[in-house]
Amino acid sequence: MKIDISGSTPLEHATPALVIGCFEDERDELFQGCDAALQGCLGRLADSREFTGRPSTSRLLHTLGKLPAERLLLVGLGKRGDLGYERLRQAAGNASQALRSARVSSFSSALHLSCTLPKSLEAVAVGALMGSYSFDLYKTKEKELRFAFQAMTLLVASEADIEKERARAERCRRLWEGIRLARDLVSHPGNVVTPGYLAQAARELAGRNGLECRVYESDELEQLGMNALLGVGRGAEEPPRLIVLQYHGGAAKGRPVVLVGKGITFDSGGISIKPGPGMEEMKTDMAGSAAVLGTMEAAALLQLPLNLIGIIPTAENMPDGKAFKPGDVLTSLSGTTIEITNTDAEGRLILCDALHFAQRYKPAALIDLATLTGACVIALGHEASGLLGNDQRLVDALKRAGEESGERVWQLPLWEEYGEGMKSDIADLKNAGSRDGGSIKAAWFLKQFVGDSRWAHLDIAGTAWSDKARPYSPRGATGVGVRLLIEYLEQRQQ
Ligand code: BES
Ligand code: MN
Ligand code: ZN
Repeated sequence: MKIDISGSTPLEHATPALVIGCFEDERDELFQGCDAALQGCLGRLADSREFTGRPSTSRLLHTLGKLPAERLLLVGLGKRGDLGYERLRQAAGNASQALRSARVSSFSSALHLSCTLPKSLEAVAVGALMGSYSFDLYKTKEKELRFAFQAMTLLVASEADIEKERARAERCRRLWEGIRLARDLVSHPGNVVTPGYLAQAARELAGRNGLECRVYESDELEQLGMNALLGVGRGAEEPPRLIVLQYHGGAAKGRPVVLVGKGITFDSGGISIKPGPGMEEMKTDMAGSAAVLGTMEAAALLQLPLNLIGIIPTAENMPDGKAFKPGDVLTSLSGTTIEITNTDAEGRLILCDALHFAQRYKPAALIDLATLTGACVIALGHEASGLLGNDQRLVDALKRAGEESGERVWQLPLWEEYGEGMKSDIADLKNAGSRDGGSIKAAWFLKQFVGDSRWAHLDIAGTAWSDKARPYSPRGATGVGVRLLIEYLEQRQQ
């Protein structure tokens, strides 16, 4: 979808559809202007409570020549006093979804004009772009009925703002490229997105953005001693890999932020096989790696002035004659030995090697993202990602980024006591303990491999995929992590 900026006033602007925001408790100037042009139609809708302006409601009207805009889309903003960025993003996403169902492919939005907050244009642009997403690559029927958005015009209040606002909209478009990449990677099925596919996607990303990319294949992983990653990949035909992407936007000697993303392209559970129902969702077990790739893409497009490294351990977790088994002992890259008590706790195994490997880059901050535990879904549901770490300043910075970006996170404690159940009789550690406190135990396990790095871990098991449509996230892949990390990286600069 193309984005444009226009300084024309909403009431004089010709467009297939004009989107305006409506409050529950106030009829603002734009509402009144449109109402007058439509001879009181909007007032009627409000008086009769057919359209109240409640959040997540909308109403599409034809203007029949009474306004230069062919249609008017009213979008509920709720109460004036409750209006914030998240509400705006949601309203903009709602508008996109309403326009999609009406098959209106080009539109103009005046939504952000209802809000005086400084970044309201960005909130509307991002919400609209995110809400416009759909993934229908594998649908072969009724291709002629396909719908694709063409163009969105954002109306700004004064001609003088056009250049400034155009630059802001362009930033949103670049961020969106990263989010879309992450969503697409998660949406594709597991027979397409394999470790090899992720490696190729990383190479292409590097190619188009001028990043460095190195893919370590099995023999090199063997030489390095990444036996935890190799162990997990043993049961699959497709070999595991370690992908390293480097973006140099900062000072030559500047310590990088290192991102690590779990890239299990399908998690059957391995020999500790998962129950059948719902197993198809385990194609999303590479959402952490998708977030890392999406963030690398957006960071490069946005030309962020810092050094950023993305590390992706990737494998398929499958049962097979060669697969690793409960009771096996693996020697990880760090030398720490791990008794396998459950092959379904594979994420922490591929991550422990990648986190140890990350130390060689002397990270200024080390952040991993993983669909790591079902326990995190039990604890937080689908509304927030779990956040744990060994450095409260880093954790706090991520919390702030979560509030700003709308990708909420919630901190869980990481006390030493949680590690008591993770000691093995035969090896240094075991990979799975009892179910209680499962997310924290998993994070405690990871913590044993981060050395003295400032480290934070995001458990995105509940947030990477949505079973229901949300205002700016249709059912399916959410692209979680990209907005949060870009916000964090941008805040670091200030
Ligand atoms: N990939 C799963 C976690 C998961 C669950 C992600 C639900 C998304 C939605 C992970 O590899 C896993 O299987 N974890 C186990 C760990 C247990 C065996 C200690 C779990 O959470 O049950
Ligand atoms: Mn698993
Ligand atoms: Zn998994």
